[in-house]
Amino acid sequence: MKITVITGSPHRKGTSALLADEFIRGAKEAGHEVYRFDAAFEELHPCLGCDKCGMGSAPCVWKDGMEKLNPHMADADMVVLVTPLYYFTVSAQLKTVIDRFYANTYKFTGGKKSILMATAFDSNEWTMQALTGYYKTLAGYMQWEDAGMILAAGCGSRSGIEHSEFPQKAYDMGKNL
Ligand SMILES: Cc1cc2nc3c(=O)[nH]c(=O)nc-3n(C[C@H](O)[C@H](O)[C@H](O)COP(=O)(O)O)c2cc1C
Repeated sequence: MKITVITGSPHRKGTSALLADEFIRGAKEAGHEVYRFDAAFEELHPCLGCDKCGMGSAPCVWKDGMEKLNPHMADADMVVLVTPLYYFTVSAQLKTVIDRFYANTYKFTGGKKSILMATAFDSNEWTMQALTGYYKTLAGYMQWEDAGMILAAGCGSRSGIEHSEFPQKAYDMGKNL
C-alpha cells in the first residue's frame, strides 16, 4: 500500500511525532511504501478562498509545500493524519494542509483508507470528542474508509507517552495493516 502520513506538530521529538515514527516503522516492516509530510516544517500558506482553483479545475495560486504533497495525496491508498490536540481539534499546521485539499478535492476523494492519531494533555471522557467528530465528518466527505484511530489522551509529555501503551499500538497498527 502507498501510505501518506501528514503530521501537524511543531515538535520534531514530541508526543505525536512518536506515534508517527512508530506507525511508520511498523508499516515499513510490513512492506508498505510511506511518504511523510511534516506540515510544521514546510512552507505552507492558508487557503485564500479565492476559488481560482475552482476546486480542482486550475492549480492553486500558492506555490509552496503543497506541490510536494499533492502527488502523494492523489496516489495514496491510505492517508494518516497525526496531530496534537489544539483546542479540541487538529493543530493549525494540519488544518492548513487540509484546507488546501480544496484545490484537489476531487483527486483526493474516494478509494482511500484513513487513520487518525492524536495526543492530548487531558484525559477527560470528552477530550477527543470534537476532534473525532471532525475527523469522521472529514473522512465521510472525502469518502475515505476509516481504518482506525489512536487517541492518546493523558499524553502531554514525551516521557508520559513513552511510558504508555500508545507507541506500541501505533507500531502494531502500521505492522498489521
Ligand atoms: C496551542 C495548544 C493547544 C492545546 N490544546 C489542548 C486541548 O485542547 N486539550 C488538551 O488536552 N491538550 C491541549 N494541548 C496540549 C497538547 O495537545 C499536548 O501537549 C500534546 O502532547 C502535544 O503534542 P506534540 O508533543 O506532538 O506537539 C494544547 C497545546 C497547545 C500548545
